[in-house]
Amino acid sequence: MSSTSPGTAPLPDDIREARLRLARARRVVALTGAGISAESGVPTFRGADGLWRNLRAEELATPRAFARDPLLVWEWYESRRRRMGSVQPNAGHHALARLEARVPEFLLATQNVDGLHGLAGSKRMVELHGNLWRLRCLGCGAVREDRRALEDLPPRCTCSGLLRPDVVWFGEDLPAGALEQAFTAARAADVVLVVGTSSLVYPAAAVPEAAISAGAFVVEVNPERTPLSEACALALRGRSAEILPQIVGGAA
Ligand code: OAD
Repeated sequence: MSSTSPGTAPLPDDIREARLRLARARRVVALTGAGISAESGVPTFRGADGLWRNLRAEELATPRAFARDPLLVWEWYESRRRRMGSVQPNAGHHALARLEARVPEFLLATQNVDGLHGLAGSKRMVELHGNLWRLRCLGCGAVREDRRALEDLPPRCTCSGLLRPDVVWFGEDLPAGALEQAFTAARAADVVLVVGTSSLVYPAAAVPEAAISAGAFVVEVNPERTPLSEACALALRGRSAEILPQIVGGAA
């Protein structure tokens, strides 16, 4: 792995190598986490501003928390929805959309539920943890997209059933097929980019591990060290909105 140490700018050689690998790659996977949206103003989960009413994501994003107090859980999601309602994709999201446009086989697997990759133009994408703008009825199972502010919490379906955010909670399975697609693509990839994720939450964190075992060149982009940093081929310490445009190229 690279000798770049936490908090320092990545070495020009490392940037050059990542850029070259991407330029030659025919199969690329990008796995993203909350950090890629940080520069759009979306708080990360485990960063300093990640707490909400002194509660951690793991205490709110669970079926148990929702069963116990749907209002509390909805208030958290609604506060995130309102905060995210006006945010825009940043240079990191745009760089991944440009990369997709030129690589023959590309898959973006995101853990983010904010929808910013879609807004940036990414299409070959799986949302491993669902999407914050979709609501699902616990009664009839209907799913609908709704980007408006929700006035009455917790929201109800036309069938009067309780609506929940269509996201994956701790203890729940990931959307059918999405995880498998990510693993299959990662195992076949020449290059895997792992961007803005703490690499702590499984099964998503196992995707780059599988890629390394299969011989892919794995590049991490993160200002901090993570459990993946030692094992990957290059750990580029820096913010994704700066690093991704450098290694992808094209207009920033
Ligand atoms: P975390 O909040 O755990 O980690 C965010 C990562 O982004 C950290 O490693 C930061 O160092 C890094 N980071 C911060 N600013 C960055 C920047 N400008 N550029 C690049 N990286 C930056 O978020 P996730 O790894 O996405 O799941 O968390 C994984 C899952 O845990 C989430 O999808 C969510 C959460 O609880 C569920 O809700 C099910």
